[in-house]
Amino acid sequence: MARRKKVYEGKAKILFEGPEPGTLVQYFKDDATAGNGAKKDVIDGKGVLNNRLSEFFMTGLQSIGVPTHFIKRLNMREQLIRQVEIVPLEVIVRNYAAGSMAKRLGMEEGTLLPRPIVEFSYKDDKLGDPLVPEEYIIAFGWASQQDLDDIIALALRVNDFMSGVMHGVGIKLVDFKIEIGRVWDGEFPRLVVADEISPDSCRLWDIETGAKLDKDVFRRDLGSLTDAYTEVARRLGVLPSNVTHRPKPTLIN
Ligand SMILES: Nc1ncnc2c1ncn2[C@@H]1O[C@H](COP(=O)(O)OP(=O)(O)O)[C@@H](O)[C@H]1O
Ligand SMILES: [Mg+2]
Repeated sequence: MARRKKVYEGKAKILFEGPEPGTLVQYFKDDATAGNGAKKDVIDGKGVLNNRLSEFFMTGLQSIGVPTHFIKRLNMREQLIRQVEIVPLEVIVRNYAAGSMAKRLGMEEGTLLPRPIVEFSYKDDKLGDPLVPEEYIIAFGWASQQDLDDIIALALRVNDFMSGVMHGVGIKLVDFKIEIGRVWDGEFPRLVVADEISPDSCRLWDIETGAKLDKDVFRRDLGSLTDAYTEVARRLGVLPSNVTHRPKPTLIN
């Protein structure tokens, strides 16, 4: 196959030109970073798991009518996606206090919030993705008021879906981050869920034990990240057939 043109290489993924105009191939790397690249490592098998898990969540969202950039998975590490204009925001939905919110407000991690809270960070690695009020987003033209209303509605639908799916396998969805893209159907822009949805971009706690099953395992040196992600994939029934990391043998009925 002819060498594909690399469009962008980020911290966790590489984007290549896709086979058709308006498409991209998203390659999931094994690289893990935290604290905006301050902590780095290569975690064997992470890319394979995140490719599968993101496919699982994006296709699930599509099945309930939430539009996403996902077209199809190509192989263990790659998926075909629709090219979008990324809205330069990290859209964060929180159900329980954790991470930066818990720190900022002096709340204990795990405190149930009165309702899901949607917040926005400006996507800029050099600035460390600072939290921004909606007023900034509109004044600087990163998104319109209408876009923001639509983004919040989308984010809350993603939250309901993800919370339900996770609850079904004994996992609490504490918070997560999504990115939103704009696609053009002729003259008309539409907003879709883009980037990835995986344990890299969610906080997932085991309901029974409180064990962390997400990137905090890496951020806070709590053990094997691959084991944690494999556990999430196993519970959801989306383990790839030839993944090498299995925490324990599974019984097949
Ligand atoms: N469908 C898409 N079209 C165009 N860009 C996308 C799409 N989905 C995700 N992206 C962008 O591709 C990059 C994915 O690589 P990643 O390693 O996550 O980068 P980063 O280090 O910037 O977070 C991100 O910058 C993300 O905004
Ligand atoms: Mg990213």
